[in-house]
Amino acid sequence: MASTHGAEVLVASNRGPVSYELRPDGALHARRGGGGLVSGLSAIGPDANAVWVCAALGDGDREAVRRAGGGLLPAEDTGGQHVRMLGIDPDVHHDAYNGIANSVLWFVHHMLYQTPLEPVFDAGFRRQWAAYQAYNHAFAEALAEEAAEGASVLIQDYHLALAPRMLRQLRPDLRIGHFSHTPWAPPDYFRMLPDDIAAELLTGILGADRAAFLTRRWADAFTDCCHAVLGPGIPSGTRIGVHGLGADADFLRERSHRDDVDERMAALRAEIGEGRKAVVRVDRTELSKNIVRGLLAYRQLLEDHPEWRERVVHLAFAYPSRQDLEVYREYTAEVQRAAEEINSTYGTPDWTPVVLHVKDDFARSLAAYRLADVALVNPIRDGMNLVAKEVPVVSDEGCVLVLSREAGAYEELGEDAIVVNPYDIGGTARALHEGLSMAPGERAERTKRLAAAATALPPARWFLDQLQALQE
Ligand code: G6P
Repeated sequence: MASTHGAEVLVASNRGPVSYELRPDGALHARRGGGGLVSGLSAIGPDANAVWVCAALGDGDREAVRRAGGGLLPAEDTGGQHVRMLGIDPDVHHDAYNGIANSVLWFVHHMLYQTPLEPVFDAGFRRQWAAYQAYNHAFAEALAEEAAEGASVLIQDYHLALAPRMLRQLRPDLRIGHFSHTPWAPPDYFRMLPDDIAAELLTGILGADRAAFLTRRWADAFTDCCHAVLGPGIPSGTRIGVHGLGADADFLRERSHRDDVDERMAALRAEIGEGRKAVVRVDRTELSKNIVRGLLAYRQLLEDHPEWRERVVHLAFAYPSRQDLEVYREYTAEVQRAAEEINSTYGTPDWTPVVLHVKDDFARSLAAYRLADVALVNPIRDGMNLVAKEVPVVSDEGCVLVLSREAGAYEELGEDAIVVNPYDIGGTARALHEGLSMAPGERAERTKRLAAAATALPPARWFLDQLQALQE
C-alpha cells in the first residue's frame, strides 16, 4: 500500500490531541487537549516524522475533517503535530465507541456490571461488534497508509484492540505496539464475553509485537486470559511490557501557580469557610470512580464523628463524561442526589458539607489540589489514576492521600497513602477521619515521598521507553 506521509512513528487513539467546536457563524474553534500522550509525543521532538491518527468525535471534528480533505489537520490547530482525524461514519462510531468500547469493554475491564446495566449479548450486540470491527479496520487502513517502511506504531487502549492484528496483515513490515490504559479483567470475568469475541479481542492485541500495560497486575491478568481463552497463551512473537505513567512535575508546578489558579483558590477558600479543612476529589463522573460510595463514606464520617461537623467541607468535582450513555447520565444524577441528601441532613445556615462542582475547570482542579487536606481517590478499579499522583506534586502544605487498593497507582503510592477497600464505606470513613487527624509533620513527610514516587516516570519517559522497547 502506498504511504501518504511516510511517518516513522505513529500513534493511534480514539480521542486525539485536538477537538473542534463548530460555531454558529460557521467558524471552527480548535481546542487542544493535554495528557500523557500529548506530552509523550512532543518529547520525540518536532523533527521526528510522526503522525497521530484519531477519530472525529462530533460535528465540529467532522467538519474539520471535511475541510482538511481527509488529510492532516492544519498545524496551527494541533501545535505543529501531524494529526490525521478519521471521519468514521457517525453510526459506526457510535456503536463502536458507546456500544462496544464504553458499554462492554470498559465494563468488563473495570468489572462494573451490575443492575441496571448487565451484559446483553444478542443480535444488537453483534451489530455493534461489526461496527467495532469496521472502526478498528478504518484505523488499521489509515495507519498502513501513513507509515513508512519499518515504522513504529503505538496503538492505544480498548477502543482499538483489533487494530494491531489488522494492521499486521496489511503491513507485516511495521513494529506494532498496543498499550492498555485500563485495568485488564481477570479470566473469570473476561470469559463472560462470548467465546469468539473474547478470542478475537486477545488475538487482536497479540497481533502487536508488544502489548503493554500500566501495572504488572493488569499485564498478568492479560496473560492469564490468553491462557484461559486461547490455550497456548502468549505467542513467541509478542512481548508483554509494563510502563507505569507518572505525573508531569514541571508542567504541574508551573501551571498551578498561574493567576487563574490563584483566583480560584480564593473563591474555593470562600466556599470552604475560615478555619475548615477540605476533603477533595476530582474525577470524571464515571462509575468506576466510585463517587457515590465516597460521598456515603463522608456522610458516615459526619455521623460517627460529629466533631467534624462545621469543621470540614467535601469539595467534590465530578466532571461530565460519556453523557451519550444513559447509565452515565443516571450516575451523574445519583451523585447529585447523594450530595444534596448530605447537605439537607447535616448542613447549617453557615455550613454546606458538600460542595459539588460538575463543570470541567482544570484551573479550579489545580486550586483544589493545592489547598486539599485530604484527597479521596477511591475507584472500584482504575488503570492508574493520575489525580492520586498529581495532588502530592501540587499540594501547598501537604495532603493526605486516601487511596483505593484497586487503583494502579496503589502499586507505587500504597506505602505513604491511607489505603482503602473501595467497597467498604465504613473503612473509607475511618480513613477520612485518620487523614483529617494526621499531624502536619507526618502529613508533609508523606506528601514529599508520594510526590517523589508519583513523578518517577514522567510522560515523556513513559512514551520514549515504549518506543525504545518496541524498536529493540
Ligand atoms: C480513560 C481511557 C481513555 C479515555 C478517557 C476519557 O482514561 O483510558 O482512553 O480517553 O478515559 O474517556 P472518553 O470516553 O471521554 O475519551
